[in-house]
Amino acid sequence: MLFDLRPKKSRKDLFDREWELEELERASGRYPLILLLGIRRIGKTSVAWCFLEGKRGFLVDMRGVIRRADLYERVARGLEESLSKMRRFLRGIRGIKIAGAEVEIQWRGMDSLSLAGLLTELNKLDEFVVILDEVQHLRQPLMSEVREMIAYAYDNLDNVTLILTGSEIGMLRRFLRLEDPSSPLYGRYAYEVEVRRFTKEQSKEFLVRGFREVGMEPPMEEVEKAVEFFDGIVGWLVIFGKSYSEGKGGFEAIAEMAIGMAITELMKLDPREKLVLKAVARGARSWSQVRELIEEKEGAVIPKSSLSRTIKRLERLSLIKDYEFLDPVYEKAALRL
Ligand SMILES: Nc1ncnc2c1ncn2[C@@H]1O[C@H](COP(=O)(O)OP(=O)(O)OP(=O)(O)O)[C@@H](O)[C@H]1O
Ligand SMILES: [Mg+2]
Repeated sequence: MLFDLRPKKSRKDLFDREWELEELERASGRYPLILLLGIRRIGKTSVAWCFLEGKRGFLVDMRGVIRRADLYERVARGLEESLSKMRRFLRGIRGIKIAGAEVEIQWRGMDSLSLAGLLTELNKLDEFVVILDEVQHLRQPLMSEVREMIAYAYDNLDNVTLILTGSEIGMLRRFLRLEDPSSPLYGRYAYEVEVRRFTKEQSKEFLVRGFREVGMEPPMEEVEKAVEFFDGIVGWLVIFGKSYSEGKGGFEAIAEMAIGMAITELMKLDPREKLVLKAVARGARSWSQVRELIEEKEGAVIPKSSLSRTIKRLERLSLIKDYEFLDPVYEKAALRL
């Protein structure tokens, strides 16, 4: 079902992504570390799941992981999802308990299993894929711990391919610190695969096919407006298709709803970040234009170095690049901050 809001887990539900899946196929086995990049809602997690289909491996959702207990809990959930492919093998690993469809990792005390230990065991299998989703969200000390684990796998475990995904592209690169001599990953290489936005034709075909699946044929005009506005970002197309087919309104109402969702997310930014985003949404196309617009419209002065830092951070969050929004919905949302 194309208009399902959850990430797609099987290729039969996935629209296109031939190129991304081939890229991952080519890169895995050849590069120990792969970054699967893309802005919010572009379909990274879906590509990741579908790549895993039919392979040995698991995906760990790192969002909301704060304590070490959360981390092991998430890894256990990841293993559960792939249990059918690995049950027999996992049974033999000390520190892993399997009861029915549940997996428990003993990470404290006697017979405990560290993440590096788990990966070392899995390396004994044939090729094995570990996907860490939104890993840039981790906080210290877990962040360092996971970075160490990645470095260990990179250096020692030939059969393990690590794929990291994240919507905050700059944050993800920064998390790895490949260029920092004090980082365990210093000097290593990460192969990057970017999940692309759909072309206009693909977006249109996606919506038409999705509507056909639910037995609907909305006016082409509505479809075209959505194709134009949502700019090939599949997550928004799904929200449009699902909301429309559930009678929640036409294009205008659903676009408003999407903007509302984006506003909620942008509200989490700090006041300076909001000011800068608003200036970019109003058309500022350079550092000095941002500064002037903020001064003129808001009567606020942001110190020079702080402004540069703020812009950099917004770029790392993949909200803007070269003073342009990467997602038109966020641009509209920023105007209303
Ligand atoms: N190729 C695709 N075909 C059909 N639906 C897709 C495809 N890619 C993504 N989707 C749908 O789009 C939405 C967003 O997808 P997904 O969660 O995979 O994106 P993401 O980039 O991981 O998002 P986030 O940044 O929120 O983590 C989901 O509803 C998912 O089902
Ligand atoms: Mg995701």
